[in-house]
Amino acid sequence: MTIPTPHISATSKDEIAKTVLMPGDPLRAKFIADNFLEDVTQFNKTRGMLGYTGYYKGKRVSVMGSGMGIPSAMIYYNELFDFYDVDLIIRVGTAGSMQEDVKLHDIVIASSACSESSINDNLFGNINFSVTPDFDLLVKAVDKSKELGYTTHCGQVHSSDQFYSETDPRVFDNLKKYGILCVEMESYGLFMAARKHNKKGLGIFTISDSLIENVADSAENRQKSYTNMMELALEVAEA
Ligand code: HPA
Repeated sequence: MTIPTPHISATSKDEIAKTVLMPGDPLRAKFIADNFLEDVTQFNKTRGMLGYTGYYKGKRVSVMGSGMGIPSAMIYYNELFDFYDVDLIIRVGTAGSMQEDVKLHDIVIASSACSESSINDNLFGNINFSVTPDFDLLVKAVDKSKELGYTTHCGQVHSSDQFYSETDPRVFDNLKKYGILCVEMESYGLFMAARKHNKKGLGIFTISDSLIENVADSAENRQKSYTNMMELALEVAEA
């Protein structure tokens, strides 16, 4: 395949930076470009999946939506790594807490992801291949998050294939018991795509809801926690 791809209309690799921040929501990509980046150019609007490139404190970075779920997101992860020579994709997203001490608006940084996704079927025989982010960036992100004063958790996340899940409660209880911090829907695909192309992935989340307790949120606090997460991702982005 050549560029432009069926899903990204940039006609030159130079239109996209080496690091791409990817929220699920394309309007959140626009929010990052509008509020954090300078000298912004738009490189994609195919299927409404807005993508922009600009500068954060002099560092050239791109931001683009991924859509929701592994199948949508992996189209973009694979095309960016494979056809646009992107080196690092940082997923910035929301997640539902699965642990009592992981509170609303806390920052979670994924040290690995597990999933019921079938993308690995037949790739590794009967071996459960584990997927992980880039280790150096993981350490950098955890250190930076603590330095910025954010309540930070680093551990395993569940990349679920269903938002409206009817998972057996015993499965949920085991995920919780075995220490899964939170549930989201894309990181497993990102870490696999990064491994496939010998590139780097990282997943940073803000807790937007809880699967174990009723939590009330204010729009103001939600916005602030998104902003913290985006700033953290921009700080660890590589030029
Ligand atoms: N499930 C899956 N993905 C999510 C959730 C959830 O509860 N909250 C935020 N992203």
